[in-house]
Order: sequence, then structure tokens, then C-alpha cells
Amino acid sequence: MPSKIGENTKIWDEKGLWGDYEIGSNCVIGKFVEIGNAKIGDNCKVEAFAFIPPGITIEDNVFIGPHVCFTNDMYPRAVPKEGEWQLVKTHVKEGASIGANSTIRCGIIIGEYSLIGAGSVVTKDVPPHALVVGNPAKVIGWVDKHGKKIKKDQLSIVEDFELVNDQELKEMKTKTEEDLMEGV
Ligand SMILES: CC(C)(COP(=O)(O)OP(=O)(O)OC[C@H]1O[C@@H](n2cnc3c(N)ncnc32)[C@H](O)[C@@H]1OP(=O)(O)O)[C@@H](O)C(=O)NCCC(=O)NCCS
Repeated sequence: MPSKIGENTKIWDEKGLWGDYEIGSNCVIGKFVEIGNAKIGDNCKVEAFAFIPPGITIEDNVFIGPHVCFTNDMYPRAVPKEGEWQLVKTHVKEGASIGANSTIRCGIIIGEYSLIGAGSVVTKDVPPHALVVGNPAKVIGWVDKHGKKIKKDQLSIVEDFELVNDQELKEMKTKTEEDLMEGV
């Protein structure tokens, strides 16, 4: 499958793009961003120096701050035992924002319209509309679709609210590199 870049997408520096990546329309991808074998939806903004390796799926309207670092290997080794390297996937759902310099441990689902504070280290699934900060990142509040803080009891009025832990996404999270490269 050839790599794809959607209409009206502005990429400041294509040198960092490699493999079978897919980037939707109306996105802005800043300078010194590395994207390899990852999938990015429409209307996303990826700021400078972000690292988005294989196994990362980013839905529409997502903001990735500068220096955000995704990971895809839970127990990294420069020279893994032959045939045992395992890709661990991560999924960022629609409208989420990830603050500057955050690190996202692999195997995570980041919920719709959640907001991750600058410098967070995210080690667990983030619920939809959650505001999380720190290392390890913890929920400190809730935000609406525009990033405005709301009370937890207002979540019930947030449109399209759904749980992140749906089975299909859980199954997607752990696959071998071979599965990922299938059809390339
Ligand atoms: C997380 C965030 C949205 C919180 O905003 P806020 O609610 O207005 O923040 P406040 O200043 O009221 O802080 C509330 C508390 O959280 C703490 N806090 C805020 N942001 C934090 C962060 N990123 N990491 C750790 N703690 C944080 C504050 O120190 C404060 O703690 P206290 O109650 O013990 O004093 C904001 O601080 C942030 O990090 N935004 C992202 C910025 C960014 O990366 N932008 C990218 C584009 S350049």
C-alpha cells in the first residue's frame, strides 16, 4: 500500500516521513517530525519534533504538541532476540490533545477530547474528556470539546460520550510487526 497524504495538508519537512504512513486532509505537520508506518486522520496538528513510530493510530482533529514522544516497544533492546520483537500499538481517539513534551507509553488508548498536560508521562488508558497531568499521568479534571474545564457531572451532557475500553481496540493494541506490514 503506498503512503498517502490528504488534500490541503501542509508538511513542513518530508524528510522525517518513512514507510507506509497515512496522513489525512487539512493537517499541519511541523518541522523535524518523524512519522513512520503510522496513521493520522483529518484536521490534525502535529507540532515540531514529535515522534510517531509504527503502530500509532491517530483519529481526526487531534493535537500533538511539540516534542511529544510515542513509543511502540514495551521492553526495548537494541538487539532483540530473533523473531521476538513485538509491536505494541497505541490509539488516539478523535479530538484529543497531547501537551508539549509528553511521553505516551505504548498499549494506551487516549480517549476522545481528552487533554493531556505538558510534560505528562501517560502509562494507562485516558478516559474520554479527561484532563490528565503528571508522571505517571492522573486525571485531575474534565474538559469539553473545546478544552474548557467542566465538572464530572456535566460529562453526561457531552455529545458522543462512549467508553474507551471497547474490545475491538483492545485487540488492535498488540500485534506483531509482520501483521502491521501485511500488504506493504
Ligand atoms: C494541564 C493544563 C491544561 C492545566 O491548565 P489549568 O487547569 O489552567 O492549570 P492550573 O494552572 O489551574 O493548574 C492546576 C494544578 O495542576 C498543576 N498543573 C497544571 N499543568 C500541569 C502539568 N502540565 N503537569 C503537572 N501539573 C500541572 C498546577 O501546578 C496546579 O497544581 P496545584 O493545584 O497543586 O497548584 C495546562 O497546565 C497544560 O499543561 N496545558 C498544555 C500546554 C501545552 O502543552 N500546549 C501545547 C501547545 S504549545
